[in-house]
Amino acid sequence: MHKRGDPPSLIRLGSSGPAPAQRPRTERAISQELAKEWFKRGKELGAGGYGETKTYEVQDTEYRAALGPVVVVKRFNDDGYDDDDMLAIRELARREHDAHHEAWKRMPPDCQQYLAQPATMSFEDDVNVGSYLVQALVGEEGLTTLSWGKFGEMLDTTGTQLDPGYKEWIARSFGDMLGCIANARMVHKDFNSENVLMLTNLGQPGSSGALRFEWRLIDWGIADVRGQRDQALEPALCADDLYGWEAMPGFRFVGGDGTCHGEKPGLVRSMYLLLRGDNVLDADVAYWIRKGFADKTGLRTPPTLEAAWQERRTAEEAARAARA
Ligand SMILES: Nc1ncnc2c1ncn2[C@@H]1O[C@H](COP(=O)(O)OP(=O)(O)OP(=O)(O)O)[C@@H](O)[C@H]1O
Ligand SMILES: [Mg+2]
Repeated sequence: MHKRGDPPSLIRLGSSGPAPAQRPRTERAISQELAKEWFKRGKELGAGGYGETKTYEVQDTEYRAALGPVVVVKRFNDDGYDDDDMLAIRELARREHDAHHEAWKRMPPDCQQYLAQPATMSFEDDVNVGSYLVQALVGEEGLTTLSWGKFGEMLDTTGTQLDPGYKEWIARSFGDMLGCIANARMVHKDFNSENVLMLTNLGQPGSSGALRFEWRLIDWGIADVRGQRDQALEPALCADDLYGWEAMPGFRFVGGDGTCHGEKPGLVRSMYLLLRGDNVLDADVAYWIRKGFADKTGLRTPPTLEAAWQERRTAEEAARAARA
């Protein structure tokens, strides 16, 4: 890292380290009653559109071994709703649970590293108990957990200009994470500034040496499974805009209906706006995301996208030269 004005160095982050050791899976499902109890005793963490989250320090050794010492309990907001609504809310919780588990199950360890491990819940309790989900806390010793939004604010308010090598790493690993979702034949559909988290040592007092960045994606509430886990894909990646340099990469099934499955178009833009600065071109950030995605999925980039990118890159360079 350097502040604006320092010459950029080209230090690269090698890898974000080995994937976390696999913990044994929970044997017993967590009942809604038990999760409610944990929620009652938990500490405030966050609030979003559907409910409230708390952290809870697990006492039970079996759950602790499976999920880690601290879990997140999400309570689906049901204040003031009647019985039919309670049933619908329970279904929302179950849907999120199932999609989160499906993503976890379909991903190899190098992709699971982007997720918070979901706990297995049971949904048999009476709906009037409320609806809860439990998952591992995103957090790692020595690193701060920040939402994507907060990370952006931190860069802005401190005037931090990351080295290009770090920017490349951040964008490529973001593309790698997108590739993991594509490899699972799923779409998350809810990438927003609070559902994408980042673990970093940036800004920590005394954090000298290499910076660390790791992405985590939470909130699988509206995620979809789009095919069988190994269903064959068209060899080229697709995009919402096949002639757009900032197109969001996606995937298509062989023999499918031609739908390009992927996350929402504005994501690439969010990322180049986050990483924008004198030491990097917007086109390059878009390229790194696509490259991360392509490397992970093995899908090749269609020539139209390559050409659009090249054209944008040349234009950006010319604009910079004219300003200099
Ligand atoms: N596993 C986790 N580790 C750390 N923080 C978490 C975790 N899960 C949730 N949080 C925090 O709690 C907040 C709310 O959680 P979540 O996004 O799952 O629910 P929501 O925002 O209510 O749902 P939606 O985004 O669909 O409206 C998150 O933005 C995040 O700050
Ligand atoms: Mg959320």
